[in-house]
Amino acid sequence: MASPIQIKTVITADAATLLNLSRKTFFDAFAHLNNAADMEAYASTAFTLQKYEEELSNPDSHFYFAVVDNTNAGYIKLNYNTAQTELQDPNAIEVERIYILQEFQGQQIGKHLLDFAIQTAIDKKFSYVWLGVWEHNNKAINFYKSKGFIQFGSHPFVLGTDEQTDILMRKEL
Ligand SMILES: CC(C)(COP(=O)(O)OP(=O)(O)OC[C@H]1O[C@@H](n2cnc3c(N)ncnc32)[C@H](O)[C@@H]1OP(=O)(O)O)[C@@H](O)C(=O)NCCC(=O)NCCS
Repeated sequence: MASPIQIKTVITADAATLLNLSRKTFFDAFAHLNNAADMEAYASTAFTLQKYEEELSNPDSHFYFAVVDNTNAGYIKLNYNTAQTELQDPNAIEVERIYILQEFQGQQIGKHLLDFAIQTAIDKKFSYVWLGVWEHNNKAINFYKSKGFIQFGSHPFVLGTDEQTDILMRKEL
């Protein structure tokens, strides 16, 4: 039987643990698809302890670990209000990041975290959940489609010197 998945709120004291998990899952997912210098340039500003401590102290940004067999198998970052990277609609939640360690993928952990985000938005009587996803990340796009997300736009995402396109997707509640 599959091990149970627990959702644990990430607190400021977990900043270094979250940073390590974030950096590892990001590189595992995208390093083989991008230029190494662009990855490092992005990582040098996106994955710093100071940035993670700031994000964790923002009352409108909430991080959660998915814990399986006493391991932080993945995490999700939800943004409210002005913490949202765009739109900044008070009636919506942005899923800014959702990442599962490779060895834990395909075990419904991502689904569990996304369901948690959707249920949180329903409980708050929000109108929709939205997110941005790299146009070439077919696995994630299919995952979001399977959960009822549909494309509503796109926006640029700069990785180092590489201007990429993120597809914006939303799920109406
Ligand atoms: C995308 C990601 C979060 C999905 O999490 P996961 O735990 O691997 O996925 P799950 O096991 O929860 O899959 C849940 C459902 O998504 C769908 N799904 C998952 N992968 C899929 C794929 N490759 N194609 C189509 N559907 C897929 C399925 O419907 C599946 O449900 P089912 O097996 O019961 O039918 C995870 O693979 C990941 O971290 N990838 C690397 C980082 C990344 O790309 N993050 C997103 C950045 S925007």
